[in-house]
Amino acid sequence: MPETKLTIKAIIDRKREGGKITVLTAYDASFARLLDQAGIDILLVGDSLGMVVLGYDSTVPVTLEEMLHHARAVGRGRQRSLLVGDMPFLSYQSGPRDAILNGGRFLKEARCDAVKVEGGAEIADTVRAMVRAGIPVMGHIGLTPQTASQLGGFRVQGRDAASARQLIAAARSLEEAGAFAVVLECIPDQLAGMITRQLAIPTIGIGAGPGCDGQVLVTHDLLGLFEKFVPRFVKQYANLAPMVKEAVASFRAEVEAGTFPAAAHCFPMQIDPATLEAEKEEEVRT
Ligand code: KIV
Repeated sequence: MPETKLTIKAIIDRKREGGKITVLTAYDASFARLLDQAGIDILLVGDSLGMVVLGYDSTVPVTLEEMLHHARAVGRGRQRSLLVGDMPFLSYQSGPRDAILNGGRFLKEARCDAVKVEGGAEIADTVRAMVRAGIPVMGHIGLTPQTASQLGGFRVQGRDAASARQLIAAARSLEEAGAFAVVLECIPDQLAGMITRQLAIPTIGIGAGPGCDGQVLVTHDLLGLFEKFVPRFVKQYANLAPMVKEAVASFRAEVEAGTFPAAAHCFPMQIDPATLEAEKEEEVRT
């Protein structure tokens, strides 16, 4: 694994060379460090932050300040990975000016390399303006959680001919606008493969099958740390939630029983405590 920091060019070249791209979400410095050390190519500070860490019911309430706060933390933890900040709902939909000013904050304040925005042809002009302003952009089409209610909920997209054609057009318009990669979320694998073959920029799939140039998952899903629901496209590589609960229950039991902390967890004094006791008794007598 190269020690030098990954660049956007290296990510695009990976597709040309036929290699796969790995992307995981990160929301804090400790996880960023672990994922970076494990060789993950791109750390995405996803607005899934809202559901996974902040306890919201959807990604819609997540604010720009919340995203920047966590992006700064991830920025402090990563070394080699490319860092992408997810622009939250209504931080770019109002037009290119807001998108540039808000997107630029991820680069200036959190040391992100790029930002991600949801949407297809309807935001192509905004993406073009951001790229012209010097902000690298990752697109995101298919199931776009910020506007899931308009899509009829959290459902697979692009199953019929009309919506499949619309997604192909969306991917092309993002590439033409200058996006350096596109996330394809929850679309049939044949359609994702077709889009991947038509684009020169990499596609990153989530629920879009193995034909994409890379794969992204929410880290808490992969580790079995998010128990509310597990989408069908998630593979749990570990089941940490029960382990966390077990460890915490052991701590509680030992504190309550007085067996923690043990001698090994205590700091001995450098003088004989009896000396201090004697001084105290002397004070009381005089
Ligand atoms: O917010 C997020 O975590 C995402 C990924 C799942 C693509 O957008």
